[in-house]
Amino acid sequence: MRTLFVNGTIVTAEGSYAADVLVDGEVIAQIGAGLAASVTADEVIDATGKYLIPGGIDAHTHMKLPFGGTFAKDDFETGTRAAAFGGTTTIVDFAVQNKGQSLHEGLDTWFAMAEGMAVADYGFHMIMSDVTDATLAEMDALVDEGVPDFKLFTAYPGVFYSPDDHIFRALQQTAKNGGLILMHAENGPVIDILAAEQIAKGVTDPIGHGLARDSRMEGEATSRVIRLAEVAGAPVYFVHMSAKEAVEALVAARARGAMAWAETCPQYLYLTLDDLGHGFEGAKFVCSPPLRTPDHVAALWSAVENGDLPLIGTDHCPFDFHGQKELGRGDFRKIPNGLPGVEERVDLMHQGVVDGRYSKERWVSLVSTTPAKMFGMYPKKGAIAVGSDADLVVYDPSRKHVLSASTHHMDVDYSCYEGQTVQGGSDVVMSRGSVIVRNGEFTGRKGAGKFVKRGRADFARAI
Ligand code: URP
Ligand code: ZN
Ligand code: ZN
Repeated sequence: MRTLFVNGTIVTAEGSYAADVLVDGEVIAQIGAGLAASVTADEVIDATGKYLIPGGIDAHTHMKLPFGGTFAKDDFETGTRAAAFGGTTTIVDFAVQNKGQSLHEGLDTWFAMAEGMAVADYGFHMIMSDVTDATLAEMDALVDEGVPDFKLFTAYPGVFYSPDDHIFRALQQTAKNGGLILMHAENGPVIDILAAEQIAKGVTDPIGHGLARDSRMEGEATSRVIRLAEVAGAPVYFVHMSAKEAVEALVAARARGAMAWAETCPQYLYLTLDDLGHGFEGAKFVCSPPLRTPDHVAALWSAVENGDLPLIGTDHCPFDFHGQKELGRGDFRKIPNGLPGVEERVDLMHQGVVDGRYSKERWVSLVSTTPAKMFGMYPKKGAIAVGSDADLVVYDPSRKHVLSASTHHMDVDYSCYEGQTVQGGSDVVMSRGSVIVRNGEFTGRKGAGKFVKRGRADFARAI
């Protein structure tokens, strides 16, 4: 199958220009002006007035994550389909090693969930719940098998939490094997005390979640882990950064040459602590770290604008309000943590272009190219170049649409952005040469998505 995209503006992280793109099979075969005159194609897609961008890459999703006695609602079929509607053609999901399991046992469970289900491509990070001599040795094998990064937590005592010595040993291992440690940085043990104090004061509604998870405890954990990484001689990457104190720690560390990186997520740029505050409705907005006050939001936007936060994941982890978030009625500590968002990321970040915060090239970098580089997929993914996978989106920068649970494709009964209008939308979405979304209709196939074997975290070793 050969597809020719004509009359569009190619937008990449490096620049924008008018050119046509020929896709042959699963890859980009030619790029040039006026290709229609010289090549044949089975289908010609007219992108007049539209951008042609590399497919979005969301390197932070949790399909079917077990949390708080339930499971995140989207599976790999519904989750990657929703992602595709929103212009994202690759996800990197977090496989979970439960305590007592080997890393491979956890990873195999995630392979079994994704294979035959995903409609678009996927990779895996590995959540490490147990740092032992055996799992440290297994990390080396995973790096070679295309799963080169490992998430550890200073949060969630008794579940995913790792003490400092475990984190340090894992960092030392990646210093040797070329992998990357991803950190959820919040001081979990202290937050548990603060949360119990909220309950003792009678604050049982979701607002207690936001009040207990003090931003300084994200800043503290971030600077502590950066110091551990510096001593270990390893790079470190912070997921879902939400606090200005954490950004300050990151910026200071990078200034002294530490190999420290971070992402943030749209919810921390668009939503605030106030969203947690409308009685139990606020449960819809319970995630960790929590939504924060506008001063944090402003600090995050600045960091996105100036490049301190160079990429955006979603932390997509959807739980229905009815029946799942409701598990925490009467005690906010029992509300499953996580928000839906895989479908909305590309459009929400396009608002930064619409609002004049950054260029359209930076937008492509935030949602596709830098994730590809950071997570060992570039230039197979995240690029419009001859030989790259034909993951392409015809993006209409002018089309306005309203975000709503009644129209979204995520398998969850609410939207965090209900009723909000965004400008920009994905008209045609191609995954490795096949159109999987066309003008609001799904045209892909369950099981067509393939595992992406990713390279070592070389990019994270630069500063
Ligand atoms: O609230 C969140 N973030 N849920 C997903 C698990 C995690 O910590 O990323
Ligand atoms: Zn986390
Ligand atoms: Zn997460």
